[in-house]
Amino acid sequence: MLENIQNLVVNAKKAADVIKSFSGRVRIISHYDCDGVCSAAIMLRALVREGKEFHLTLVKQLSDNLIREISHEENGLVIFLDLGSGQLESIDKHLLSEEKGSRIVIVSDHHQVQGEIQPALERKIFHVNPMLFGIDENVAGAGVTYLIARAMSPVNTDLSELGIVGAIGDSQIGSIGENWGLFGLNKEILKDAEKAKKIKIEKGLRIWGRRTRPIHKALEYSVDPYIPGVSNSESASVQFLQELGIELKRPDGTWRTLADLSEEEQQKLASGIIKERIRNNEEHPERIFGDVYELTDKKEELRGASEFATILNACGKTGAGYLGISLCLNDFSSLDDVKARLESYRREIGKGLSWVEKNSDAVKITENASYIRAGAKIPEYIISNVTSIISKSNMLPPKPVFAFVDAEEGMTKVSARAEDSLVKAGLDLKDIVASAVAETGGEGGGHSGAAGATIPREKEEIFINTVERLIKNRD
Ligand code: C5P
Ligand code: ZN
Repeated sequence: MLENIQNLVVNAKKAADVIKSFSGRVRIISHYDCDGVCSAAIMLRALVREGKEFHLTLVKQLSDNLIREISHEENGLVIFLDLGSGQLESIDKHLLSEEKGSRIVIVSDHHQVQGEIQPALERKIFHVNPMLFGIDENVAGAGVTYLIARAMSPVNTDLSELGIVGAIGDSQIGSIGENWGLFGLNKEILKDAEKAKKIKIEKGLRIWGRRTRPIHKALEYSVDPYIPGVSNSESASVQFLQELGIELKRPDGTWRTLADLSEEEQQKLASGIIKERIRNNEEHPERIFGDVYELTDKKEELRGASEFATILNACGKTGAGYLGISLCLNDFSSLDDVKARLESYRREIGKGLSWVEKNSDAVKITENASYIRAGAKIPEYIISNVTSIISKSNMLPPKPVFAFVDAEEGMTKVSARAEDSLVKAGLDLKDIVASAVAETGGEGGGHSGAAGATIPREKEEIFINTVERLIKNRD
């Protein structure tokens, strides 16, 4: 493992040297989600420190058309962040082929590698991807880009926290049923962040909104951990806290947050939650405490790393990734705008969830899995969140969940999730989705508990039939 990491670091250094020796404007294309926003912020700051100019675009996906458009631009160095590894053939054809002159491409990504570069063109591309070295988990796109930035200059170790936020945004931190925490390369980057005093690790209740939500709201919205009888109900949540004798408001009448609770109150709340979870036979009722990461250089409401990651997803996915990048680089002047975006992002997710709840005819439950066919009713950019929340809640039976929504150009976006207990029992969504995509066309990938794909819309049935067959014949 250590050797693999060292090889990746050597690889990152080569890319770093190319960037440093390049004079001219650097063209950057990054993914529009939290991980892509963090990757972009890291690269921008590193370039500014080298006195370089850049032109950045954040995109939902790297299409063949987009690569072709970039090929028409005057650019000597193109850097792809948190994407690109799946489009090597297109990069080869449109950006590297001999008549394109001396253009150099850097791909800094952690996704599945697809396609190949012709040997004659290999000298024109620097592909930094942990998968090339057998590391296929525990580092995000932002972590890979951080390794490049660190190799450009040791000053850039202060950007390590963004490598971690990217990983949290990509859900690389264990959920309630698993070991909580960051592992592998993520943990190495976390050490840099601690050393640079950018991240402080605290122990606490792992509930989203620790510093930003009134306590009763944080409990009401909590799905991971799920608090039976409390999650999803504001009045039950208020009553639960009152019964525990926990004050909801501060003396000045404003709402208290989880971060305001004394040690003793945290204990009281934790045992209350554990009791409810035991009463409802939840798996691992005690796993509600764990490491929480505080970003020490951010304003109070942005200090929780999980919450900050959500904010960056909200900015990026609603077309305002530039606001997210400003926050990453500690420019907080647009905070009000960002908060409004976060609210509307949350509202959209809430609307998506209640659409699923109200439209049971759109949900097909078989012996093997649940399938949500939402068409245009749930926007593509939030289906990942909706599917994750549903699979962690008790809305559907404990089986893998596959959600289908309309994407652009006649395609369907698929999001698949499986709970830890299913993964531990040997289910691997990455393999299942890859095999289904092989039948339908399109592209897909992911991890054992979370995978996604984009497939031709008319192939949804074939996709489902393949999944059914694969899960059924698994043993
Ligand atoms: O899009 P969604 O959040 O459902 O994806 C889950 C996981 O699958 C993510 O890690 C994502 O990077 C991966 N994925 C992929 N290829 C796709 C879609 C998703 O590798 N076309
Ligand atoms: Zn990513």
